[in-house]
Amino acid sequence: MLGNLLIKNAEIITMNQREEIITGDIRIKDTLIVEIGSGLMPHGDERVIDATNRTVIPGFIQTHIHLCQTLFRGKGDDLELMDWLRKRIWPLEAAHDEESLYYSAMLGIGELISSGTTTIVDMETVHHTDFAFQAIAKSGIRALSGKVMMDQTGGDVPAALQEDTAASLQESVDLLEKWNGYGGGRIQYAFSPRFVISCTERLLTEVRDLSARYKVKVHTHASENLGEIEIVQAMTGMRNIVYLDHLGLANERLILAHCIWLDGEERRILKERGVHVSHCPGSNLKLASGIADTPGMLHDQVSLSLGADGAPCNNNLDMFNEMRLAAIIQKPQHGPTTMDARSVFRMATIGGARAVGMEEQIGSIEVGKKADLALLNLYNFHTFPSYDVDPISRIVYSATRADVETTIINGEIVMDRGQLKTIDKEV
Ligand code: GUN
Ligand code: FE
Repeated sequence: MLGNLLIKNAEIITMNQREEIITGDIRIKDTLIVEIGSGLMPHGDERVIDATNRTVIPGFIQTHIHLCQTLFRGKGDDLELMDWLRKRIWPLEAAHDEESLYYSAMLGIGELISSGTTTIVDMETVHHTDFAFQAIAKSGIRALSGKVMMDQTGGDVPAALQEDTAASLQESVDLLEKWNGYGGGRIQYAFSPRFVISCTERLLTEVRDLSARYKVKVHTHASENLGEIEIVQAMTGMRNIVYLDHLGLANERLILAHCIWLDGEERRILKERGVHVSHCPGSNLKLASGIADTPGMLHDQVSLSLGADGAPCNNNLDMFNEMRLAAIIQKPQHGPTTMDARSVFRMATIGGARAVGMEEQIGSIEVGKKADLALLNLYNFHTFPSYDVDPISRIVYSATRADVETTIINGEIVMDRGQLKTIDKEV
């Protein structure tokens, strides 16, 4: 169902430079938005979507997801990070086979697409990652993904997940060569060393060079938990992000999940090197990791975006939840306006586009950009507007995944009224 679509009479939250909210029509040809205006007439073969009383937003961009963990939802509730990894997540990742990984990915993607997420930065497990890519390819979601890399025993990584350094690098490059650029660039490879604790210095420096050579992202976790930081300090003699910078990894190709416990030098590194921080408020709360200083990072103009992390981290992959938490957890300490609705909506859309290096292609509704959109019905009981309420505020503080009626990625309708068009279709 590749678009030629005409969306008529929508409230459009453009997130263009002026952050205009307009009422009008969007014409989609193939994968792109080709016209925005009012009173547009359908061309011959266009399917018309009547969006009267509907709100169209840029699809959400989640910059930290583990599709491989979707099947572990509910396993390891009420544990903190290192115990949760050792007792639950690592043994479960080691137990995945090809089929379970494929269905874990599909289940996660179904949830993401249904709740308006159109792009993800995803970290898989050590084995079988080709099957996650197959799910991504079939589903239609836009994704940067890669196999996780774990070539060091720090933190009690189970034997079944321990990799040989050269094999880890070779398998990553093989996957990159197979999948990077698939679907006209809808899929990209991202090197995914899990975190400093599970990676040798040699692996990290090779990843640095490979990411420069292939011009792809590096996606990892850092400074999430005080216990993790202690182990990194004991292993390297440095603070986490100082160490990554020391190895030359801190640059604009790096996407760092969490970044809760930072000192002044680490904050400076994030800012000066153009590192992209993926803030995961639901996961940070549930794993008792802490509250990241996003107001401080925003003030310093650090690149900030949002992610739900894995399904067992906060029990769902819903960006509405993450936006709301990102805003409200800051209010007691920093006051009501420091992290307002518009700031978190920006992080969920154009901020994510910047993190993945695609701000010219996604993250806002503008002519020439990819048609990655979600169509919301904000006339449900819990969202029905009183006079003159800012629609972004209604979305951040009231909307839920149930309000997403249609999701379009790359001009293709991938979900319509609960039906997953691409996932369900026979190939
Ligand atoms: N740090 C290392 N691995 C993980 C993981 O799978 N999830 C989270 N939240 N943090 C991690
Ligand atoms: Fe994570």
